[in-house]
Amino acid sequence: MDEKAILIENKAAVPKEFNKISHRYDMATGMSQGYQADLNYSASLLNLKGHETVLDLCCGTGKSTKAILSHISTGKILGIDNSEGMLEEANKKFRNECIEGKIEFQLQDAMHLNFLPSSFDAIFMAYGLRNMPDYEKSLQHLYTLLKPGGRLVIHDYSLANTWYARPFWWILGWLFIVPFCTVVSGSSKIFTYLVKSVFKFLQPNQVKDLLEKTGFKNIRAYPHKGWRAPILQAFYGEKE
Ligand SMILES: C[S@@+](CC[C@H](N)C(=O)[O-])C[C@H]1O[C@@H](n2cnc3c(N)ncnc32)[C@H](O)[C@@H]1O
Repeated sequence: MDEKAILIENKAAVPKEFNKISHRYDMATGMSQGYQADLNYSASLLNLKGHETVLDLCCGTGKSTKAILSHISTGKILGIDNSEGMLEEANKKFRNECIEGKIEFQLQDAMHLNFLPSSFDAIFMAYGLRNMPDYEKSLQHLYTLLKPGGRLVIHDYSLANTWYARPFWWILGWLFIVPFCTVVSGSSKIFTYLVKSVFKFLQPNQVKDLLEKTGFKNIRAYPHKGWRAPILQAFYGEKE
């Protein structure tokens, strides 16, 4: 099998691949204009009041955690990822907040989370769902973990159903993301996987349908602003 296709077939190996680039991840994503601002926008859709317990699933080095943190005062964020390297970076970045107990990072597989049902007021999953081997099972699990009235935001690349979204992603992915991020991080495998996995991922209407099938209500899709509108979405859903 093509060495770089293996991750698509075996998504459980994705976090191990992130280990290899964890110390360069922030630099690589820093080249993507608006990366943090996009996360901030999506996190704001959770409409947090400040006291909530929030799950940041597939938190990586904590860029998504940072987006939630500005909305939390007395509450707590649990950042989960299955890459030791990515969590090490996150722990370094939020040492004080971890000591205060405002943030806690844990190594867990997002497909087999070790939490009781109804544990969270809100769940943020940024660039995570696409990496799950079974999207529906993952969303069912998240539904169970939310308290009644809880809110979910999925932030991910999802190619709009327009003629130009796929060619646009092809150009962005193969001509910019893979070459530049490979130079910065020293590894091409995870970025090649990124480009391919986005082509294979669900379109916005399919994500909305899946959220509905899973039981979520008040489902909405928010395309991001400007040139990212055809490729980047935030999906919102509530548990009744
Ligand atoms: C693209 S990064 C996103 C990090 C962060 N949310 C952000 O927005 O910058 C995807 C993360 O998902 C994690 N991941 C992938 N599959 C996972 C799984 N099954 N369980 C937990 N984490 C997983 C990877 O280790 C990686 O850190």
